[in-house]
Amino acid sequence: MTQRVLLIISGGIAAYKALELVRLLRKRGIAVRAVLTQSAQQFVTPLSLGVLTEDHVFTQLFDLKDEQEIGHIQLSRQADLVIVAPATANILAKMANGIADDLATTLLLATDKPVLAVPAMNVRMWHHKATQRNLERLHADGVHIMTPDDGAMACGEFGKGRLPEPEAIAAEIERLLALPKAPDPLADQPDFAREARLFSTSLETDGALVGKHILITAGPTHEPIDPVRYIANRSSGKQGFAIAAAAAQAGARVTLVAGPVHLPTPPGVTRVDVETARQMLAAVEAALPADAAIMVAAVADWRTADAPDQKIKKDGTGQPAPLALVENPDILATLGHHANRPTLLVGFAAETQHIADHAQAKLAKKGADWIVANDVSGDVMGGDANAVQIVTAAGIESWSTLPKSKVADKLIEKVAHALAALAD
Ligand code: C5P
Repeated sequence: MTQRVLLIISGGIAAYKALELVRLLRKRGIAVRAVLTQSAQQFVTPLSLGVLTEDHVFTQLFDLKDEQEIGHIQLSRQADLVIVAPATANILAKMANGIADDLATTLLLATDKPVLAVPAMNVRMWHHKATQRNLERLHADGVHIMTPDDGAMACGEFGKGRLPEPEAIAAEIERLLALPKAPDPLADQPDFAREARLFSTSLETDGALVGKHILITAGPTHEPIDPVRYIANRSSGKQGFAIAAAAAQAGARVTLVAGPVHLPTPPGVTRVDVETARQMLAAVEAALPADAAIMVAAVADWRTADAPDQKIKKDGTGQPAPLALVENPDILATLGHHANRPTLLVGFAAETQHIADHAQAKLAKKGADWIVANDVSGDVMGGDANAVQIVTAAGIESWSTLPKSKVADKLIEKVAHALAALAD
């Protein structure tokens, strides 16, 4: 079957290279449909692109004829891959912030297909903190980003920011088209939202959580090495998000402090997005007081001692760059010994061996009431099922392997009973 790409061309001098890219893609048997932003039309014409793509070229959001014949939503979904090349600093900023003020950016917000951005801009614009922040954001959102080439620029300066050669872009497009199709991110929504709703009829909380404040952390943290690299882990955030969904379902006021994950916010949950452990701690402390706190996040134990503003380069000696690490604050332990300690404090412990023993030791060390211990030696991280043991001062409860949404429901029921018992 013919593979199709939607090529969005934004307005930089490198736009002329998009014509060569189209030619190379067509030579590889890939169908190309092109969209030009208004400024891109200063550099290439719809006519030349139309000839090369042998298709209509789209330029206007409110072009009635285009809307009637295809509609911008379908246009964004009919391709196997959406490419922005060249991607100017301006379109990257809009993408990072979800701005949809013309046809190109509306398509980028509406698409359910993978997106490849190929930046090209002046070297200073590339290194600007705002651009780097936007790139980090897009990367966290799952956008594939090609690194620009170094070299002489049209503006006379020299450095990083040149559009990669069309051959290199075409090769990257072929590679992405060959990848197995990623699941639709919205497919996650029914998983916890629908299942939490299904199970909610059997959620036995007797209204004990109505109006209670439950604070939850979820997902990994990203600890920057330099502006483009970071230390991360495999946490998907699914278990924490499922717990937040169940708590909201039980009538609690829920604050969910989430590391960088690709999950939609469960209905009725207040979400605070963070990247690093220190940001997560600050957001958690800002959310206090809480009746219960459930710390599910896989917080990075270490961060780099310092993250320079510029990308670390190879120095030519063949020696790797030294990476000095320092320990991150322990958020759970901080809460365990906090003046504003939540009434009920629950930690998670991801272990690969001696699970219950380690969890028991953690209870005391972190000042938590319960530790939910799980064996992550299989595919728990990122998977949909979890087998947990609840370790409390009273002993150990082992639950059979359950969907994460069911683990969430049972845990929220247990939290409800504990808070009700404490109130008596
Ligand atoms: O010590 P360990 O990382 O196994 O502890 C896991 C528990 O501690 C989890 O609840 C996790 O959210 C929390 N934690 C934390 N801050 C850290 C490390 C872990 O809150 N820096």
